[in-house]
Amino acid sequence: MVRVAVFASGTGSNYEAIMRYTAGLADPGFGINLVVSDQPQAGVIAKALRWQTPVLVVERRQFATKKAFEHQILARLKQDQIDFIALAGYMRLIGPTLLQEYYGKIINLHPSLLPAFPGLDAVGQALKAGVKVTGVTVHFVDAGMDTGPIIAQKAVPIDENDDHESLSQKIHAVEHELYPRIVHQCALGEIYLDRGKVCRLSR
Ligand code: GRF
Repeated sequence: MVRVAVFASGTGSNYEAIMRYTAGLADPGFGINLVVSDQPQAGVIAKALRWQTPVLVVERRQFATKKAFEHQILARLKQDQIDFIALAGYMRLIGPTLLQEYYGKIINLHPSLLPAFPGLDAVGQALKAGVKVTGVTVHFVDAGMDTGPIIAQKAVPIDENDDHESLSQKIHAVEHELYPRIVHQCALGEIYLDRGKVCRLSR
């Protein structure tokens, strides 16, 4: 079984979508063995307890440097023999300490069609820009902010009546359908990174 950690700072609806997805498969070949959160109050923690996933809470402010913070996370990932990391609403850039160990083995989910609207509040950015279509991107993580090689994208139309809440809901629905499948394929190595290019094994 491939051992996966989910990193999340927020409500964790995407974590839960992955749990539901795996629960529905007879032989997923991977499991979520750890949730890492930098926010002690994050909703994802209660969800993880319900699904009986072990949780590591580490607060950045408890460490003098980002390096020390990530070392603490890395030690637990090693201890728990984590093979693959899925970011799901983790609100921090991954630093060199984690990237060195997991480059090509970390993916992220972002609520826009990258490279449009990277960073914070992509939904608000799309509404402000007045675009008629936004969407969801899954990409391998590199050192930049939402910049790594793109694995999958899905478009979400913006209606005239959409506000932040309605558009966020539509985006979440697309994420919940897309991300678990991509996590599955990447964790199993069916989608992988080779010299900076996203490759797929043909079945
Ligand atoms: C998602 O919209 C994801 O694209 C972004 O953060 C949000 C996390 O939502 N990176 P949730 O905590 O999984 O509900």
